[in-house]
Amino acid sequence: MATHVEGLVDEVYLPPAELARGAHCSSMEQYEQLYKQSIDEPETFWGEIAKQFYWRQPPTGAFHEFNFDASKGRIFVEWMKGAQTNMSYNCLDRHVEAGHGDQVAFYWEGNEPADSARLTYAELLQRVKRFSNALRSLGVRRSDSVALYMPMVPELLVAMLACARIGAVHSIVFGGYSSDALADRILDGHCRLVITADGVWRGNKLIKLKHITDHAVELCAARGHPVERVVVVRHLPRLHHLVPSVGDQPGGSEPYNVKTGWNSGRDMWWDDALEGVSDECEPEWVDAEHPLFMLYTSGSTGKPKGVLHTTAGYMLYVATTFKYSFDFHPEDVYWCTADIGWITGHSYVTYGPMLNRATSVMFEGTPFYPTGDRMWEVIDKYAVSKFYTAPTAIRALMRLGDETVKRHSRQSLKVLGSVGEPINPEAWLWYHRVVGDARCAVVDTFWQTETGGHVITPLPGATPTKPGSACRPFFGVQPALLDEQGEEIHGPGEGYLVFRRPWPGIMRTVFGNHERFETTYFKKFNGFYCTGDGARRDEDGYIWVTGRIDDMLNVSGHLLSTAQIESALIEHPDVSETAVVAAPHSVKGECVYCFVTTRHGVAWTEQLQKQLILKVRERIAPFAAPDYLQYAPGLPKTRSGKIMRRVLRKIAQGDRDLGDLSTLADPGVIEPLFEHRCAGA
Ligand code: WTA
Repeated sequence: MATHVEGLVDEVYLPPAELARGAHCSSMEQYEQLYKQSIDEPETFWGEIAKQFYWRQPPTGAFHEFNFDASKGRIFVEWMKGAQTNMSYNCLDRHVEAGHGDQVAFYWEGNEPADSARLTYAELLQRVKRFSNALRSLGVRRSDSVALYMPMVPELLVAMLACARIGAVHSIVFGGYSSDALADRILDGHCRLVITADGVWRGNKLIKLKHITDHAVELCAARGHPVERVVVVRHLPRLHHLVPSVGDQPGGSEPYNVKTGWNSGRDMWWDDALEGVSDECEPEWVDAEHPLFMLYTSGSTGKPKGVLHTTAGYMLYVATTFKYSFDFHPEDVYWCTADIGWITGHSYVTYGPMLNRATSVMFEGTPFYPTGDRMWEVIDKYAVSKFYTAPTAIRALMRLGDETVKRHSRQSLKVLGSVGEPINPEAWLWYHRVVGDARCAVVDTFWQTETGGHVITPLPGATPTKPGSACRPFFGVQPALLDEQGEEIHGPGEGYLVFRRPWPGIMRTVFGNHERFETTYFKKFNGFYCTGDGARRDEDGYIWVTGRIDDMLNVSGHLLSTAQIESALIEHPDVSETAVVAAPHSVKGECVYCFVTTRHGVAWTEQLQKQLILKVRERIAPFAAPDYLQYAPGLPKTRSGKIMRRVLRKIAQGDRDLGDLSTLADPGVIEPLFEHRCAGA
């Protein structure tokens, strides 16, 4: 990785002058003024923004109520309760009725460069209305939850907007999760209907979504939860190209049509579900606080949490952050590479852009297929002006060398966004200097599934940026840094990153478990929402998020809990104890490093290691698979029996500076751990 940039990382990068001229927020003075209003008069600030949207019943009464202090009773957040609206109406009908039906909403770009399609706002509206009727005829009612386990295809947009239209709650499960993980989410969310596809190609790997869904549905049935309907998009046969290396794949002589098991009482093709439905569909008018979706995120106990977002506050917040963080203008072509299965896809592929009537690219493939030029090709193909991706992708692309980037024009680019994990200054600079030719603004947006939208971010026309810093809070967001005792750190310093009051897009609860919501986010420090991240504030008031300080790891921007991986490993009968920590990784940011103690007399064989990797892939997902498995004759524990992860993190990195070991019960365990350390970590 480039190291000749040392001087440059300390520089401050001013907003590009041309961008600043036409920007929605074009100076720090303007930022300060808007920010101050958003904090001092939230009702005026958000009330003005609310006027852009359609309200069946306008906001009346208290615009905003909350309690963030666990010592004062139940934690709750409400925005505009009593107002009535509908998300799909605001994303679609509103634009079509204003005469913009012919505008392209999405350029769909398939895994194969030859596969592409375009969808206008009017077409999308029509498809959403029809599918809404299909869902209603399958018995889906207001407040029912629907699981979506789908590839990045237009039907995913249609399905999520159709759920929103009829007041159903979508629960999207990323298409890379295993059947076990899918089953857990279907069960926890009480979903009786699952929407999936036959399969999808990601690069030259075929993912058999229907097979995985079938297995998940069986697991649900075995646990007493019948899934009544599975609606299947027939995606593979409509693709143009056979992936050339298909014959080389294990079991790869399979043709386009993945032969799927079919349960005729339960399974139904998407097209058949649309048979005979009406083209008209009145939206379900819902309360501002009606649930819009749940999305599962890893929890430090290992059991994923269904983060629940509601309608109006989320709508205002994602629309506003999209507009300001990317300085969106109608002539833009916007591309966010995230999968809709993650929060970034919910807020900044679907809802934020559509609420702003953006024209976006929706991408099914990966940055490296068919070659490492793909990102830059797609940017030039659609003249993308605002681009949003993750540090892990930036670092991987950086490794391919500058030439791969430079042989493409990229003249259309104006703003380059980053999200998902701390971006190291070298990667930030490469993004700025090579991808952006030093003329684009780089916005490092910090946020979480829980926050709904960006909470700390530069604004491209206003904020002078520093490589590696997410800069300043977004409107309405009041960050603070606390020490271990909960004392606030004023001025420069480092501590727990917390927020003092709610903004409209913050989550409202953990689905089915409000107590867990309160305990996870509000019990550590009374009066604050606790992110679980650490951060530093510099002399200019800039925030530098340093990463998770709880038992979570962030692998390529995917949040995983150590407990979740440990519980998969411990299922193996030969394992007696295990501890998982994060180790630094040059592309993924962090990787999964496991310490494993085997049962007495069991050898530490390659076969056992393979079985353990398989366990994690099956229980969670391939992206969670351990990078390093090391044999641990014993684990470092405190006298009260708590595993000292801090020490294990050091051992994983080969760092002998172990700090204070006074609480360690048996110092004899340390040396053998260094001896068995995995080479290369
Ligand atoms: C990390 C993704 C530093 C952080 C939107 C957070 C970041 C977790 C950044 C949430 C960033 C996300 N700088 N760290 N710009 N963006 N993170 O829920 O640790 O998948 O708590 O939401 O990702 O991950 P999640």
